[in-house]
Amino acid sequence: MYDITSLRNNVKKTPVILAIESSCDETAAAVLQGGRQVLSSEILSSCTEHVRFGGVVPEIASRAHTVAISMAVDRALKKAGVTLKDLDAVAVTYGAGLVGALLVGVSYAKALAWSLNIPLVPVSHIRGHLAASYLANTTLQPPFIGLLASGGHTAVMLVKDYDTFEILGSTLDDAVGEAFDKVARVLGLEYPGGPNVEKLAKEGTACIPFPKMLKGGGGYDFSYSGLKTYVINAVNTATQKGETVNRADMAASFQSAALDVLVEKSIKAAKEYGVNTIAVGGGVAANGYLRDAMVRVGEEAGICIVLPPKWLCTDNAAMIGAEGYLQYQKGNFAGLDLNAVASLPL
Ligand code: KG4
Ligand code: ZN
Repeated sequence: MYDITSLRNNVKKTPVILAIESSCDETAAAVLQGGRQVLSSEILSSCTEHVRFGGVVPEIASRAHTVAISMAVDRALKKAGVTLKDLDAVAVTYGAGLVGALLVGVSYAKALAWSLNIPLVPVSHIRGHLAASYLANTTLQPPFIGLLASGGHTAVMLVKDYDTFEILGSTLDDAVGEAFDKVARVLGLEYPGGPNVEKLAKEGTACIPFPKMLKGGGGYDFSYSGLKTYVINAVNTATQKGETVNRADMAASFQSAALDVLVEKSIKAAKEYGVNTIAVGGGVAANGYLRDAMVRVGEEAGICIVLPPKWLCTDNAAMIGAEGYLQYQKGNFAGLDLNAVASLPL
């Protein structure tokens, strides 16, 4: 019988954790020791299969996960130099994300946990993005300001403790990554949108005045739908007039309008709450403009900026292992009835 209560009696200080991530189009597996030491991290992606559709097709992503998951796990174990018998727990993303995609990772993790009789640790993908900072700076401890900028979320939060967050502000409409993806489409750029907007922006200058998005006001909240609509209208109007839009300038102007506000509000939060560290996470944190701006403004303000390497910002399983470790220490184990959840609160 799979008995969570008895598993809780054997929580280890430096467990070897296998982490699995399959919430979108990346099939990822990682092995961590003691929560902050990444022994291996493998990522297989179905990204190229989605390009001709202009975005992730959930059914294609799910099928790709079923093909890739054993390979990702086998490679992660091999690179870490461990076998299944060495594992103390399996951590898995159970939400938020595409349900069909999540179910592949959840089912695989359940089968492993059951067959090895080890804890199954349910991990929130969103928390995982923040926990990437614990891997980037292995001495990082709350309190700090968390800036989450991904395809599904945009928020500034006060991380009071490893498991206690106060959301200071979040997006009132689109997430910042979502806005990048939509603007990419309007500018005729391929999926994945964010990195392609960044690339095009490098060829232009931020000379187009964008509407100021809740800049001074709105507390710590954000709003991205206005910026997206501005680009759509500008491109449509120019097309109707037979004019051409300078796409590179548009990309550069959108990028600075979308990202400057993240920098400003997170710095403001650090000052207001008297903490001297900001940890940045989520796919948009891979953006070079945002990274440079955070470091520059952080230095000016004397605030330490924890910026995980780019591979830890976009989807990966190492960050799931880092958050999984925190949940493991709390004895937050799931039963074999664990299900995938499309959306989770922050
Ligand atoms: O965190 P993530 O990998 O997945 C979610 O959990 O949402 O974030 C994906 C988002 C996408 O919207 C993608 O366009 C954006 O992050 N992104 C970027 C960059 N790399 C990824 N946005 C701007 N610049 C980038 N370099
Ligand atoms: Zn993500």
